[in-house]
Amino acid sequence: MHEVLFVTSEMYPFSKTGGLGDVMGALPLSLHNKGVNTAVITPLYGRMNLDGNKVRLVYSDLHVGYPWSPITAEIYQVDYHGMPVYFVGRGEYFDRRHYYNTHTGDYFDNCERFIFFCRAVMKWARLLPEPPAVIHSHDWQSSLVPAYLHYARYEESFWKNTKSVATIHNLAFQGRFSGRLFNDSGLPMSAWHMDGAEFHGDFNMLKTGIAYSDAVTTVSPTYAEEILGPEFGCGLEGILAKHSGKLLGILNGADYKVWDPRDDKFLPCCYSSANLKGKRECKKTVLREFYMSDQLEDRPVLGFIGRIRDQKGVDMLIDIIPRLMEKEIGLIVLGEGNLMYEAQLLELMESYPGRLSVQVGYTEDLAHAIQAGCDIFLMPSRYEPCGLTQIYALRYGTPPVATAVGGLCDTITPYPSPEATGFTFAKADKKLFLSAIEQALSAWEDRESWMKMVQRAMDKEFSWDRSADEYIRMYRDLGARI
Ligand code: ADP
Ligand code: GLC
Repeated sequence: MHEVLFVTSEMYPFSKTGGLGDVMGALPLSLHNKGVNTAVITPLYGRMNLDGNKVRLVYSDLHVGYPWSPITAEIYQVDYHGMPVYFVGRGEYFDRRHYYNTHTGDYFDNCERFIFFCRAVMKWARLLPEPPAVIHSHDWQSSLVPAYLHYARYEESFWKNTKSVATIHNLAFQGRFSGRLFNDSGLPMSAWHMDGAEFHGDFNMLKTGIAYSDAVTTVSPTYAEEILGPEFGCGLEGILAKHSGKLLGILNGADYKVWDPRDDKFLPCCYSSANLKGKRECKKTVLREFYMSDQLEDRPVLGFIGRIRDQKGVDMLIDIIPRLMEKEIGLIVLGEGNLMYEAQLLELMESYPGRLSVQVGYTEDLAHAIQAGCDIFLMPSRYEPCGLTQIYALRYGTPPVATAVGGLCDTITPYPSPEATGFTFAKADKKLFLSAIEQALSAWEDRESWMKMVQRAMDKEFSWDRSADEYIRMYRDLGARI
């Protein structure tokens, strides 16, 4: 029996576009290792990393049904560290170059693709010998599952004890489509109202999940509070406030099996808080790899890794680059996203050869190299549900400069506290961002106390173990038999 079934559109190392993939690569295994019988179900994309995993076909023609009857799905299974991971396959939906969008925008049929995914999950789960105690869906792509379960409970006793949890990793992505597409979901008209699936006349998948799940969680306690107000609520603050009694913030962890400089297959040498010699070597390597001046070996080098989007404050970074470049420092940027910001960054790189390096693209090994090789990590997010890159930066001894929002507040102890692990600024404003960087640069000059901050940051522990316990407690509080 699967006690907890995770439903997700990404799971590292099979698929990943950001933090959701990382979380799904770690949290289910963490529960599994605690003895909870856990499984994950996710789409089978054309471009995914299945290397070395034996893939078994479980169903070749699972009937998914209405509204495209007789549409079918294939279900595959992989045994991942002893935990079953299931894949929903249907070539014309998932065998594409990207997961959700191209540079020119979202795939036109995203609504249909993820209705299909959620329906396939429910049809497949119905064939299990026993129902899962909890079905835990993540983000809008999986958000119809709680609603399907809500209605299925009325019809089939099979589902009567199954609880649903919907986790919001980013409230800005809601899966909002034309109201006409609601019919394709197969949900009854009784779900079509302002406290259900309807949102200003549109069909809103995330809202549907919030309305019909037994519990809603998000990925940090601060973000759980922020989204109840208009500034961060993305229009859903009303429905969230209505359901605030079932809303909980559980801080993400970091997967230190993947992100730890003591044992990182992507680094030229490893290091720890007790022996930082290797970090210097990593810095030399990263400077070489990014064609940076070797004079920067003894000067602070700043790093940014992330989606090149407004959420991540990339526009503020672009605006202050000329001011930063007046200082004797280096800056490395890795990311992809908004074409205009990418072009602006690449143009700026021409003006500061050897001191500003921009790599447009998504490259796992370079992300590790930057975390290890830089001195200061930049994360000027406008909002941040949790943020994992700053948690990795702490472990890699690269104190972050970040906006005091969401999970950044919950993970960084700001300077000048004697316990400081990084620097924060009150709100997304480029002047405040620049002065926080200046504060970090002057703190960097005091080498002795800087090294102490680096060690403190590295010794911080954000393991999944603690978060997994909180999830288990929440499932039990719902009455799930785990
Ligand atoms: P978000 O999920 O909002 O993008 P997180 O900080 O939670 O932000 O997680 C981002 C994850 O994606 C991290 O693992 C980070 O290293 C990775 N990442 C983001 N951009 C890139 C990139 N261009 N190349 C490689 N990894 C990236
Ligand atoms: C989202 C958020 C990010 C969070 C990640 C994993 O992508 O933007 O803050 O860390 O999900 O939960």
